[in-house]
Amino acid sequence: MKIVVPKERRAHERRVAATPDTVKKYVAMGFEVAVEAAAGLASQFPDDLYRAAGAHIEPDVAHLYSGAGIVLKVQRPLLAGEGELDELALIPRDALLLAVLSPYAATDSVPAYAEAGITAMALEFVPRITRAQSMDVLSSQSNLAGYRAVLDAAYEYDRAMPMMMTAAGTVAPAKVMVLGAGVAGLQAIATAKRLGAIVSATDVRPAAKEQVESLGGRFVMVESDEVKEAETAGGYAKEMSDDFKRQQAALVAETIKSQDIVICTALIPGRKAPVLVTDAMVASMGTGSIIIDLAVEQGGNCTASRPGEVVDVGGVKVVGHFNVPGRIAADASALYAKNLLNYLTPLVDAEAGASLQLDFEDQILAATTLTRNGQVVHPAFADNK
Ligand code: NAI
Repeated sequence: MKIVVPKERRAHERRVAATPDTVKKYVAMGFEVAVEAAAGLASQFPDDLYRAAGAHIEPDVAHLYSGAGIVLKVQRPLLAGEGELDELALIPRDALLLAVLSPYAATDSVPAYAEAGITAMALEFVPRITRAQSMDVLSSQSNLAGYRAVLDAAYEYDRAMPMMMTAAGTVAPAKVMVLGAGVAGLQAIATAKRLGAIVSATDVRPAAKEQVESLGGRFVMVESDEVKEAETAGGYAKEMSDDFKRQQAALVAETIKSQDIVICTALIPGRKAPVLVTDAMVASMGTGSIIIDLAVEQGGNCTASRPGEVVDVGGVKVVGHFNVPGRIAADASALYAKNLLNYLTPLVDAEAGASLQLDFEDQILAATTLTRNGQVVHPAFADNK
């Protein structure tokens, strides 16, 4: 069976879905692996390394996809009219497509996968169960995004992060506030602490308190009975009531005016990101302060952030970089590729060798499979056929 690894063609994407390391493992399982020429270059994996790992390097994209049984991608394929190439049209019927498919943001794509007859699996839907931790692309990518967000803040900040006592005077430590203490937020807290900042954080899930404090951050939170219900069985946040939002806005407004750097990471799965930092709050911050909005592509936690831009709002720099994991592409690709390998390995039929044995009743496959046999099968999208 042939595994293909195309070059990512969507804007701002520097990652790749397989590394020389994972290619070697697929080849050892008996798969034939074809990697598009230059697919890994932006992630610091040149073609020679893939070749040495046993892959065939294919410069012609039509040849690449020809005969593919499994397509490994980072982002969903381009559809007709979306870019230079209709990638979906190149994927053979019955092939398996593994990627972060963002079906909530791209609802039209789901019936298109069914029509194309492919088995499309959305990796971001891997359930957060112990067995699937090593396949969790959201965690592997958010962790690096949280790290990178603090480095982006440090880069934009015209001051030092740690306290420095020098003969010429004392440099005060930066005060950093992290909004949303999930995977990205916790890594942002840890990174800011390592750089010597004074860190505080907030979340709607009370479980976050202990985690923030264990990293040396101060936890601030709205006191309300509603927080007992704020976490879903899957560990995610729910949308809060208007009354809670008002209380939270008052808390953030009070805290934010004394902060130098704010890192926004709050998300609610399948919905627009909650607005936590208003224009008035931005205006209350001191000149030279920085806001990094990691939620900018989901609508933004900060009303002043603009996707792909660094905007100066009255002396406060509001940063809305696209695709932050892609800004640390080598490690992001390495971890993502490992997640895919861990997802695929249990599906490989060891006896038949390099073929797949798919049990769609399995909790992980049931949660991730959007389409198969020409049908939309995922319950969240089945009406969209
Ligand atoms: P996420 O990316 O969906 O959201 C980021 C953070 O924003 C979350 O902590 C969320 O509670 C917070 N948030 C949402 N609305 C907010 C608001 N209005 N104000 C302040 N904060 C708000 O979540 P992420 O990072 O993917 O993690 C969610 C949960 O999943 C956590 O409980 C985490 O510990 C858990 N988890 C479990 C794993 C497992 O394998 N068991 C693996 C990774 C995460």
